[in-house]
Amino acid sequence: MSEYLLEMRGITKEFNQVKAIENIDLKVRPGECVGLCGENGAGKSTLMKVLSAVYPYGTWEGSILWEGKELKAHSIVETEAAGIVIIHQELMMVPHLSVAENIFLGDELTNGFGFIDYDLMNAKATQLMNRLKMPDINVALPVLSYGGGKQQLIEIAKALNKNAKLLILDEPTSALTGTETETLLDLIKEFKSHGMACVYISHKLDEVAAIADTVTIIRDGHHIGTQPMAELDTNRIITMMVGREMKNLFPREEHEVGEVVFEAKNISVWDTTNPDRKLVDDVSFQLRAGEILGVAGLVGAGRTELACKLFGYWPGDHEGKIFLDGKEIHVKNPADAVRQGICMVPEDRKRHGIIPLMPVGYNITMSVLGRYAHNQLIDAESELAAIQHEILRMKIKTASPLLPIASLSGGNQQKAVVGKMLLPDPRVLIMDEPTRGVDVGAKYEIYKLIFELAKQGVAILMISSELPEVLGVADRVLVISEGKLTGDFPNVGLSQETVLAAAIGKPETAAA
Ligand SMILES: Nc1ncnc2c1ncn2[C@@H]1O[C@H](COP(=O)(O)OP(=O)(O)OP(=O)(O)O)[C@@H](O)[C@H]1O
Ligand SMILES: [Mg+2]
Repeated sequence: MSEYLLEMRGITKEFNQVKAIENIDLKVRPGECVGLCGENGAGKSTLMKVLSAVYPYGTWEGSILWEGKELKAHSIVETEAAGIVIIHQELMMVPHLSVAENIFLGDELTNGFGFIDYDLMNAKATQLMNRLKMPDINVALPVLSYGGGKQQLIEIAKALNKNAKLLILDEPTSALTGTETETLLDLIKEFKSHGMACVYISHKLDEVAAIADTVTIIRDGHHIGTQPMAELDTNRIITMMVGREMKNLFPREEHEVGEVVFEAKNISVWDTTNPDRKLVDDVSFQLRAGEILGVAGLVGAGRTELACKLFGYWPGDHEGKIFLDGKEIHVKNPADAVRQGICMVPEDRKRHGIIPLMPVGYNITMSVLGRYAHNQLIDAESELAAIQHEILRMKIKTASPLLPIASLSGGNQQKAVVGKMLLPDPRVLIMDEPTRGVDVGAKYEIYKLIFELAKQGVAILMISSELPEVLGVADRVLVISEGKLTGDFPNVGLSQETVLAAAIGKPETAAA
């Protein structure tokens, strides 16, 4: 009997005659956690889709040994029955069904008459939530009542409910708060101690370092190396991922900060479903030309709601004034915001950033289509030129601009969304978690771009939950805690501790 639970040997997967991964090996022992690392588009998700039979047996080359026997699964139902459970990079829940219904989707509990037993499902789901330390969740409410982080944890609950022998987590924490991430890592450790194995994919390498026993690194579809985590550190992983050493993660460039271009005064925003609840509470700030203003805070502090209000798409109640060049402006909707020079890269790429089945290229030019119109027709040539320019500038990895954006790797989709919002030449650019799901190398490129834009005088509001990123990039840092502005610090000798203290509502120093 082999010491391995899983052995993937020589896996090759092609899309339209292009090899996404080639001859990759991956081995996992029972109870072992393997970190799978690699740049955007390296082939991590593809390898896991081969394993879970999202790509069925016969659509790829190589072999998979599961518990010593060859696995030839044709669907995810078969792999789940074998004990392989995958949590995909993009959430896969049915928003209008309840939490319990989602957890038991396809596996509904029935009573003696064959009808769905909702009471039983709710009771079991509640038990599960308690076990997973999420007692606040009402399992009878639709999943959409919960934010991205909670939804992710519910998805994980659903997976754990399936008694996985091997749990695959593809970028599980990109929408989680620090505490939620800790909860998740603790849970995985607990399940590991009962013998569950896992494959953990993340661009957050400190998480990989915390959870993985072994790390496998792939680059451009090729296996680069597999080593015990104890012999590695995050710098070493980066070097293997990128193929060269990266000494400086933040390409800071001096740039001039000019006059105030944008001002928000007394902005308040109320919850859409519960109009008594204020999500943003009387926030005011100024933003100067060429200034990079970081907005730090815990996930759920109200930063995204603030950004939505400024960009003209908060569906609930809101108030406050917005000024551009000293004149009050009214932003009716996002299209209107773009016309007035305010652009936004949204946090939730899948819901607000892309039209999944439309080609990458048209996703990029969508915001400025009128520009290529002549006599009611689109001038395809000039549109294509603009698309190609953006694909080059953002280094978007795609075989053709005509492929659906959903076929790109997560990080490359993100780069396309950023490209889309640069085309209108914004004066004010709001970026909500701009590097979510983006690898270290591509992060570096996005930072370089942010500095380049700042040099050109664009005023940038960068919301980010990654403190090193805020401190590495911003000129000034606003901190929001429970909807209120609790800090406004020039980023000179600013420490993580100071920002964190303000983020949890206990500022060390008074807000400026
Ligand atoms: N359905 C598809 N059709 C065509 N090409 C695809 C498809 N799915 C993936 N690819 C290509 O395969 C390569 C590997 O993609 P994959 O999604 O596995 O990357 P990844 O390592 O998960 O990246 P990320 O960190 O950005 O999520 C990419 O070049 C991608 O464009
Ligand atoms: Mg991926």
